[in-house]
Amino acid sequence: MSHSKALQNSIFTTIGEVADELQMPCYVIGGYVRDYLLQRGNAKDIDIVAVGSGIKLAKAVAAQLIDSSEVKVFKNFGTAMLKHHSLEVEFVGARKESYQRDSRKPIVENGSLEDDQKRRDFTINALAISLNKNTFGELIDPFNGITDLKDKTIRTPLEPGITYSDDPLRMLRAIRFATQLDFTIETASLQAITSHANRLKIISNERVVDEIHKILLSSQPSKGFKLLYNTGLLKLILPELIALKGIEEVEGQRHKDNFWHTLEVVDNIAKTTNNLWLRWAALLHDIGKAPTKRFDKKIGWTFHAHEFVGSKMVYKIFKRLKMPLNEKMKFVQKMVLMSSRPIILSEDHVTDSAVRRLVFDAGEHIEDLMTLCEADITTKNPKKQKRYKNNFKIVREKIIEVEERDRIRNFQPPVSGEEIMKVFNLKPCREIGLIKDAIKEAILEGEIPNNYEAAYNYMLTKGKQMGLTHA
Ligand code: CTP
Repeated sequence: MSHSKALQNSIFTTIGEVADELQMPCYVIGGYVRDYLLQRGNAKDIDIVAVGSGIKLAKAVAAQLIDSSEVKVFKNFGTAMLKHHSLEVEFVGARKESYQRDSRKPIVENGSLEDDQKRRDFTINALAISLNKNTFGELIDPFNGITDLKDKTIRTPLEPGITYSDDPLRMLRAIRFATQLDFTIETASLQAITSHANRLKIISNERVVDEIHKILLSSQPSKGFKLLYNTGLLKLILPELIALKGIEEVEGQRHKDNFWHTLEVVDNIAKTTNNLWLRWAALLHDIGKAPTKRFDKKIGWTFHAHEFVGSKMVYKIFKRLKMPLNEKMKFVQKMVLMSSRPIILSEDHVTDSAVRRLVFDAGEHIEDLMTLCEADITTKNPKKQKRYKNNFKIVREKIIEVEERDRIRNFQPPVSGEEIMKVFNLKPCREIGLIKDAIKEAILEGEIPNNYEAAYNYMLTKGKQMGLTHA
């Protein structure tokens, strides 16, 4: 069967023609072919493998194309890359490789196409389609990748132990692909991952995090986290999550298993948002529960201040994993810190002032916080489920109502410090802050509306009470 339909972009014909001139067999391979066969939409990256010099082919192709970037050559890896419109095309010569233990640097020798295919990670990523004119569109599949695609199986072309020790990142890739594509990792592979798990230590944090991001962005991230847990990889990456596992019972009182609960929350949030950092917040929202867990004879299990402890742990985790310590991290911290606020609110009678305070503290992230809290409802009791959901609906309605009236979300003090100084003829001093705070409190409490006139009058009254004189 010809797969020339995969090759409709004219760049494939050009590459094939140039390769023919150089008398080089050449193929498109890897993710592009896999995603075409799975009908997963247009890939942006194309991997080309040539039986010969990939760098030479890349340069010759670039010379033929009108709209291509300069060829970037990575001599150490024997690869070259060019950009053509929105496509990134990477060229490599077919290789036979053996890896040195404890290093990801391979010893490279030229090889045949099959040598190259067998050193790839999975059979579904080793499928190649020929680009040379005589064989254009022919699929080369020596490891039954097509069958594995149909059976939804992740399998390595070689004995799994070899494939994973050649490059331990592949252990995470296996789990990531299984999660993204909803595939099953064959048993031998799973066993090899479990026994090689410790080798993950030689992989850089950046690459590990990249895979975790992809798992988190899948439609059912719990699948990946369960696999990470079962294979022993999770304890190397996020031991804080493992610490949430288990149910303790004292005097007949149990608490829920916060590990499995967390995974449910992550799956829930995956249904409502694609925001990676909000998904991270869901993953980490309860991490403070392990270090704060106590049993109190009167109240039972408590996790006092777990949100605060958890938000501090977010920083440590991001730092350890070399993730950005910027506003993204601060956002995750804020979500974790505030993760119980709407819940407490929804359990009670919802007052306007409580809603105003919530909106004031959450600011522009109020919607995200509500999304997180709604995902946090994992009760299996349909009555409770309905009640909680309904309460959140009421909170959301109140937020809109209060926001329309009071515009708290991006709160700006209606009277500035400078104006207070001018009115009372003050030099910079503590009183200015006190008055500003009193105005803010009065607005949040609903004593005065959030506008200039009301705030100005309130300032005058407050100032008088403090013994200040109008200038
Ligand atoms: N590959 C491999 N081992 C790795 C990484 C990549 O064997 N550790 C091979 C696979 O054949 C893979 C190809 O290189 O298909 C390209 O890798 P990459 O671009 O990272 O992944 P894709 O398969 O294209 O998938 P995605 O873009 O979803 O990451």
